[in-house]
Order: sequence, then C-alpha cells, then structure tokens
Amino acid sequence: MNRLLVTGGAGFIGSNFVHHVVAHTDAHVTVLDALTYAGHTASLAGIPADRLTFIEGNIADAELVDGLFSTVDAVVHFAAESHNDNSLHDPRPFLDTNVVGTYTLLEAARRHERRFHHVSTDEVYGDLELDDPQRFTETTPYNPSSPYSSTKAASDLLVRAWVRSFAVQATLSNCSNNYGPFQHVEKFIPRQITNVLRGIRPKLYGAGANVRDWIHADDHSSAVLAVLDRGVIGETYLIGADGEKDNKTVVETILQLMGQPADAYEHVTDRAGHDLRYAIDASKIRAELGWAPRFGDFDAGLADTIAWYRDNEAWWAPSKDATEAFYASKGQ
Ligand code: NAD
Ligand code: DAU
Repeated sequence: MNRLLVTGGAGFIGSNFVHHVVAHTDAHVTVLDALTYAGHTASLAGIPADRLTFIEGNIADAELVDGLFSTVDAVVHFAAESHNDNSLHDPRPFLDTNVVGTYTLLEAARRHERRFHHVSTDEVYGDLELDDPQRFTETTPYNPSSPYSSTKAASDLLVRAWVRSFAVQATLSNCSNNYGPFQHVEKFIPRQITNVLRGIRPKLYGAGANVRDWIHADDHSSAVLAVLDRGVIGETYLIGADGEKDNKTVVETILQLMGQPADAYEHVTDRAGHDLRYAIDASKIRAELGWAPRFGDFDAGLADTIAWYRDNEAWWAPSKDATEAFYASKGQ
C-alpha cells in the first residue's frame, strides 16, 4: 500500500495521521479535504513535497473521488463534520458529509476494488451510566444520541453493508475522545486552554460529571495504521487508552497546569441530550494486532498540549472569536 488517499487530512486527527504515515512508512499520501471551517493546510506544514499531494475537494463529489481512487492503493477515511454542538444547531451538513460523503467513497472503493479504512467514534454506542462496570466493546449495540453520532452510526452501517453485499475490502475503527495539538478551539480541551490564554473563564457544561475516555491523537494514528496494515477485512476495532476522566477534573487540571486557581471556571447551559459517559475496552486491538498506546500519562500529554496552544496562537486565533460568539448565542 504505497499510495494512500486520506480524506479529511487537513483536520485534527487526519493531519496527525498524515504526519504519522510520512514518519513511519514510505507511502505517498494524497489528502482530499474540503477545507471547511475545521480544515487547515497549515496543519500539514513540514511534510516533504514529494510525499504529499493536497487536493481541495468534497468527498461527496463522485467524479472527483472516482478519479482519485484510480491513483491510489488504499483509502483512509477521516473526513466528517465532527462537532456535536454544531450538529444540534444545524444537522444538515452532517448528513451530507458523514452519510452521503461516505456512501460516495464506498461506491468508488467498490468500483476500483480498493482497500478502505473507515474512521469512526465510540459515540455510536450511546452512553453508559457513571457506575456501570461495563465498557464499550465491538459487540455493544448501536444507540447513538446526537445528530452527529447518528450520522456516524449510519456511515458505519453503510461500510458494513458494502463489505457484506459488495465484498468491499474495508475495516472500521471506533475511537474515544482525542486530545493533542491542532484540535479546533470549538472542542472542550482547546476551548478551555485558549479561554485561559485569553483571560476568559473556562466553561463547564452542567455539573461537569460527564466522563470522556481520553486518548492522545498520536495513539489514535498508530492504531489506525495498525488496522490498515494488519486488520481483518470486515472487522471493527475499538481504540482507547484507559483514559476516563470527568469534565470537572479535566478543567481543574488545565487550570492548575496553567497556574490558575482550580475553581476559576464557570458552569454554563448543558448540552441537549448530553451523553453521560463513554468508556472503551480496547482488548481486541491490543491482543489481535499487538497495538498499545504510548501516552500513558494524561497530565503530561495535557501539559504538552497546553504548551503547543501557548506557542501557536497564530494557528488558532483566527477561529477563536467566531467560536466564542457561537457559544455565547447558546448560553454556553
Ligand atoms: P475535524 O473536524 O478536526 O476535521 C474534519 C476534516 O474533514 C476537516 O479538515 C474538514 O475540512 C474535512 N471535511 C469536512 N467535510 C468534508 C467534505 N465533505 N469533504 C472533504 N473534507 C471534508 O475532525 P477530527 O476531530 O479530526 O475527526 C476526524 C475523524 O475522526 C472523524 O471521522 C471523526 O468522526 C472521527 N473521530 C474523532 C474523534 C475526536 O475525538 N475528535 C474521536 C473518534 C473519532
Ligand atoms: O468520543 C469521541 C468523540 O469525541 C468524537 O466522535 C467527536 O468528534 C469529538 O468532538 C468528541 O465528542 P464530545 O462531544 O465528547 O467532545 P467535546 O470536546 O465537544 O466535549 C467533551 C466533553 O466536554 C463533553 O462532555 C461536553 C463537555 N464540554 C464541551 C465544551 C465544548 C464542556 O463542558 N464545555 C465546553 O465548552
């Protein structure tokens, strides 16, 4: 698989994956990205020109996609509308990109008989009670809550159907919450870090008891590459790094790492339908593919991430005011 097409490769995790592939393989990468509000070519800076081709375009553009599939050996599909709060405000782009876009790619994979890896989320499984001893596994029933997660669930089911009905050579992975550099300031951790840098108090939805299972984006990338290399066609792999934390603890840790009082945040209007807890059991990918995360220490990874946002204001500042204005209009 020397020629790889990466959709959404100018986004947070897609760009991390492109850097990872360039550093750890000999593959040439073509990125297909629509450069929505969430895409930044600056996130791909530093990659040698002979290793990367960048194409600005939409994954739902069948003609463009068809042409690109004929030039590659395999496709890794990250492109998505990815933010729950945006999906509550305007679901339509989520259907267009996450459902119709994935359908368009699957039809091309079928026509060109290309290896396809679909990147998805643990949110397709719904949420868990705080005291539930169970975690999500590959056999947990689908039960998505939001417009975002229901469109990701729909895309997963399309991939499974194209494997079974048309013998498309696809694998799937469902990962927990990522953190690290180059994440859009709309998301929880970068929003609070950049709030503190701007002198704004961090904003916690509701009481802050909701739990997310944090994994560094570098670990997500190494796991996706492992599935692409050694995954069994038709199989799903859950990706997680045993990183459960409640939101209140994460905000307090950010404040402490940034030299602020731990209680210098405010509670704001809760998210509608807010999922309580996500938790991944990653035993399958660990046992069957020999994958393991490298970032065991969340506080150390968070400190590095804070340092990155402190040093890279030029990357995030252009999005900050519009993002905060959107949240303010929702009382968040
Ligand atoms: P992101 O919003 O940072 O990036 C998405 C990228 O896709 C952007 O570069 C955007 O320009 C591009 N894009 C959007 N619509 C497009 C279209 N129609 N055609 C082409 N490009 C388009 O998202 P992210 O957080 O990097 O997530 C990437 C993938 O990983 C998504 O599929 C998401 O569901 C999945 N995922 C994310 C997380 C997380 O914690 N962020 C966790 C698990 C899974
Ligand atoms: O679990 C994987 C998912 O993680 C991915 O599929 C999504 O693409 C990704 O956005 C993320 O979804 P979440 O909704 O969990 O992430 P978000 O960063 O939006 O919020 C994390 C938690 O923090 C959630 O419980 C809501 C809360 N929150 C969020 C924001 C933006 C706050 O308390 N305050 C905030 O300002």
